[in-house]
Amino acid sequence: MVFALGPAARSAGYRLEAFESIGSTNAEALARARAGERGPLWLVTPQQTAGRGRRDRAWISPRGNLAASVVEVIDVAPPVAATLGFAAGLALEQALQAVSVEARLRSPDSTDTVFTLKWPNDVLAGGRKLSGILLEAELVASRQLAVVVGIGVNVVAAPEGTPYPAAALHALGIHVGAEELFGALSEAWARLRAVWDNGRGFGEIRRQWLERASGLGQPVSVRTGGAPLTGRFETIDDTGCLIVVTDDGAKVPVTAGDVYFGAAASSGAT
Ligand code: BTN
Repeated sequence: MVFALGPAARSAGYRLEAFESIGSTNAEALARARAGERGPLWLVTPQQTAGRGRRDRAWISPRGNLAASVVEVIDVAPPVAATLGFAAGLALEQALQAVSVEARLRSPDSTDTVFTLKWPNDVLAGGRKLSGILLEAELVASRQLAVVVGIGVNVVAAPEGTPYPAAALHALGIHVGAEELFGALSEAWARLRAVWDNGRGFGEIRRQWLERASGLGQPVSVRTGGAPLTGRFETIDDTGCLIVVTDDGAKVPVTAGDVYFGAAASSGAT
């Protein structure tokens, strides 16, 4: 199978370039934008050799996993662009639902997995990290922001020794290829990008995201670099901040950090 856009993505004007292997689809997408690319363009590969993760971490994507970035240049403020990550999480969750249904039809003994969304934009499978999303933005001209949304999914293999337990689709009994998943993702992205509508539709994205949120109302610990902030995960606000209610009742908005729930939250996870 080869990587291809779905019909809705094609008719919405998306283009696609696929690579056998590449350092980082996000790095390539930013380089293209600096060189004049305006998008919307998908760059996709089944293997990255220098994948980038959140908070300056590496993202390991061995051959067979999915790494894809979509780039476009738009006139939005950076804080508004940051909310596009929630649309990306939702799009990936919908794509995963669609391909798992197909996989179950092909192989009825495959398992039924629950996908949830973890702030800011991870997708979990059965509570384990299945994918990561890295949003990067850079001004390429006056009021012209290159926005790159990079999505990595553990299809055939999950990394070991990560701060969170990780999952891969094949180990969950969901036997799909990166190509099939990408086709579904390109369709779901075209839908949710249109709902997001340069930030005007973030209210609706937020509503749908909260319906699938992991750990809502539960004890949470957030690491931002210094001492962990502990409390209860109340909601996300209309700018995408995580709202933590601390023991003394204060509502603290968090713009960035690593989130831990459950036992890891109460122990102030490392
Ligand atoms: C995270 O740390 O959770 C985010 C990981 C994002 C990885 C994806 S894979 C496609 C794109 N290219 C990259 O170099 N990173 C993102």
